[in-house]
Amino acid sequence: MNVVIQLERVTRTYALGATTVQALRGVSLQIRSGEFVAILGASGSGKSTLMNLIGCLDRPTAGHYFLDGVDVAKLDHDQLADIRNEKIGFVFQSFNLLTRTSALQNVELPALYSSSRISASLRRNRAREALELVGLAGRAHHHPNQLSGGEQQRVAIARAIANQPSVLLADEPTGNLDSRTSAEIMTVFQSLNQRGITIVMVTHELDIARFAKRNVFMRDGLVRKDELVAAPLDSRAELARWNQAEQTEPQLVLTP
Ligand SMILES: Nc1ncnc2c1ncn2[C@@H]1O[C@H](COP(=O)(O)OP(=O)(O)O)[C@@H](O)[C@H]1O
Ligand SMILES: [Mg+2]
Repeated sequence: MNVVIQLERVTRTYALGATTVQALRGVSLQIRSGEFVAILGASGSGKSTLMNLIGCLDRPTAGHYFLDGVDVAKLDHDQLADIRNEKIGFVFQSFNLLTRTSALQNVELPALYSSSRISASLRRNRAREALELVGLAGRAHHHPNQLSGGEQQRVAIARAIANQPSVLLADEPTGNLDSRTSAEIMTVFQSLNQRGITIVMVTHELDIARFAKRNVFMRDGLVRKDELVAAPLDSRAELARWNQAEQTEPQLVLTP
């Protein structure tokens, strides 16, 4: 499979008053098309900084980043925005949905700002398809406040994939969700990944990382460990197991 993300000795230094913070201190990482990677690490280890770079929201201080073979450091601000719109879908911990518009309109929105101008009907069709892929075809006309947290995050995922990006980036996507709902979000990620979407997800929970196929551990701005998950958890089987456990042990409390 071809390499989608290639980082070579990437550093990122923030100026903070008179001092500087070295958020990334030389990260080399290669991610191929079709991978599902979880990035783990303590708070402050550089995970979000890395995701911002991968997502073309930011550029390295030094080193190289190639996205689909394009050297991102050489792009100007507008080109960076274009490549981001075309190739990257983002999901965050907070769902960032517009509250006064329907799920469908929320999903359609990024395509409105895309430089590749597509017709209104194609835009709508893609949005419907994306909602279907996350299992929310029946909720297209609900507003965010009529949806559960898990459903809102699924709308955000549909919005991220509606433009058919090469890579889906998720920074702590289950950070605001309980364990069961987190597993539901992982069923969505695993099914999208099975359809060929490359996924890079930040989490600080090992339980969530085990749904991915590969785990990258960060510490102090460096990759400390990078390993394939021997047997990734099957989210559907996990959910079924929990449902069963709840039936036999009604007192069981699931804590996040
Ligand atoms: N905009 C910024 N300005 C200054 N320092 C920052 C900025 N963003 C992050 N940092 C610092 O960089 C380090 C890595 O942060 P971050 O990438 O957010 O870590 P993580 O997502 O793993 O918690 C931290 O020490 C943080 O305080
Ligand atoms: Mg972070």
